[in-house]
Amino acid sequence: MFKKRFVSAALIGSAMSALLATSALAAGEVNIYSYRQPELIKPLLDEFTKETGIATNVLFLDKGLVERITAEGANSPADVIMTIDIARLMEAKDGGVTQPLSSEIINKDIPAQYRDPDGQWFGLTTRGRVIYASKDRVPETAITYEELTDPKWKGRLCMRDAQHSYNIGLFASMVAHHGAEYTENWLKGIKANLARKPDGNDRGQAKAIMAGECDIAFGNTYYVGLMMTNEKDPEEKEWAAATKVLFPNVTDRGTHVNISGMALAKNSPNKDNAVKLMEFLASGKAQEIYAEKVFEYPVMPGAKPSEIVASFGAIKPDTLPLAEIAKNRKTASELVDKVGLNDGPSQ
Ligand SMILES: [Fe+2]
Repeated sequence: MFKKRFVSAALIGSAMSALLATSALAAGEVNIYSYRQPELIKPLLDEFTKETGIATNVLFLDKGLVERITAEGANSPADVIMTIDIARLMEAKDGGVTQPLSSEIINKDIPAQYRDPDGQWFGLTTRGRVIYASKDRVPETAITYEELTDPKWKGRLCMRDAQHSYNIGLFASMVAHHGAEYTENWLKGIKANLARKPDGNDRGQAKAIMAGECDIAFGNTYYVGLMMTNEKDPEEKEWAAATKVLFPNVTDRGTHVNISGMALAKNSPNKDNAVKLMEFLASGKAQEIYAEKVFEYPVMPGAKPSEIVASFGAIKPDTLPLAEIAKNRKTASELVDKVGLNDGPSQ
């Protein structure tokens, strides 16, 4: 019955060969509830099945993952949750749909700063929240988040919705490093330097830079890779070509990063296989396959990002544990409203 439901959702990773199906049957299966597009995790899951014979079923959801697992209750088929963003990983933990996992293998492969202290979520890749800057109009080669309030950037800064989780993650890191009072003033300075009301997505900021609407913008690293290689929408290649990546705070505390990650579902019916999959995903080899596919950075020190990602320059991630940063998300969100950041530039 379960399988039928997954098949009907047309989300199974691949049509398996008869041989593979036989071995998979013998080794069992594991069910993944994913906020990540199936094609992004397919290469990983294919490799896992090849190595273990364990079949993988992917249920892709674009929203309501926690609600769904909650509604399924004790009979939920969910074994492993895969998602992006600390906000969603914490939402899963706080929503009570995960369970703690203590695996020496995983804890060795994933640095402590990128996993939940209780073992309820684990980061697999990181993405930097960097500055996209105009190649033509921004001669600066280094920048800090703190400097973005400098009046020299007045009318030159673009950003997406300030309440978007990517921005809230960054602002939460400012609160974690500097406190709420500093961050409130910093956000006022950001607002004063805006070129326009926060709008669009990260790629849209690169487009705005190319169009001359602004000179710098907040953006995630992987979108640059996605734009550079976008054969479907080649104009995005031009947006990427007009911008360069500045990694904030490389000379001091490091660049804010967020993660994509995984968690063990609370009522995982195939727990042994789920742990096997999670240990596989934590391995350096799997991190590299994943990072290459999504233009992100593996969390394992020494594991390499793709050539395209490496071409942006070296990233030095902020070393504060992400769980500590994330505690400040609520404060960050309240400060955004308090200073009216989404209302656009100060008069
Ligand atoms: Fe994104």
